[in-house]
Amino acid sequence: MGEETPADAGTPIVPLEIEILTLFPGMFTGPLSESIPGRVQSRGLAAIRVHDLRQWGLGRHKTVDDYTYGGGAGMVLRPEVVAGALAALRRSDSTVILPDPGGEVFGQARAHDLSGRRHLIILCPRYEGVDERIRSTVDLELSIGDYVLSGGEIPAMVFVDAILRLLPGAIDAASTTEESFTAGLLEYPQYTRPPEFNGMTVPAVLTSGHHEAVRKWRLKEALRRTAARRPELLAGRPMSKEEARLLAEVGSEEAAPREDEVGVEVDQ
Ligand code: ADE
Repeated sequence: MGEETPADAGTPIVPLEIEILTLFPGMFTGPLSESIPGRVQSRGLAAIRVHDLRQWGLGRHKTVDDYTYGGGAGMVLRPEVVAGALAALRRSDSTVILPDPGGEVFGQARAHDLSGRRHLIILCPRYEGVDERIRSTVDLELSIGDYVLSGGEIPAMVFVDAILRLLPGAIDAASTTEESFTAGLLEYPQYTRPPEFNGMTVPAVLTSGHHEAVRKWRLKEALRRTAARRPELLAGRPMSKEEARLLAEVGSEEAAPREDEVGVEVDQ
């Protein structure tokens, strides 16, 4: 039997392994070494390896890209380069991800799903993208939104950050529990000291010390904000009896404008 440490308490931690394939490895240094991503790695919850795609480049000049057939601006990553990198890194338990504006829109459910996998390979295209024949060899194409970035590096950082904070032990367990009670809703309002700022006060319930009242208030405010700003999120989400009741209360209160909604643009 191996020695137990307080961190594993008998259950060995199987770290999530992530390989990032990029032509710009330096872009990842800061974002992945600071804050939660840095802590997750130093605690051994995840191992992230950034690989320079050029090491699989072709010929003496390590060429990685070429002109697009049919003409037009921009260069395309050559399929042999990508195939070489994938052949070196892919395992039977790998999930290969291609950031692409035409992919599935990345959301919290997908982040949860990916945080439970063993080995992720994120292939970051640059230039005009990858040769079309590479698409069939990836498992998942993911977009971070309807805009075009100059490469897959920033989307890859978004995926990794969202995934790492979900690993058990990555952040304070209370934060993830709190998130799950309002899962699928926008965040409820948060306040810190001072109790009065620019004439605005903190809602009295938050300083009452009454935990159940605080929980209800937060749930109700999360529902209020979601209904006002992102009503489509409510439509696709099952609702408990308590939530339905709180939402009905919100509806009847909304006839009178609230101070804390000032500044939010709403369609007239
Ligand atoms: N590559 C370029 N733009 C992107 C986007 N919006 N999402 C994912 N990958 C991309």
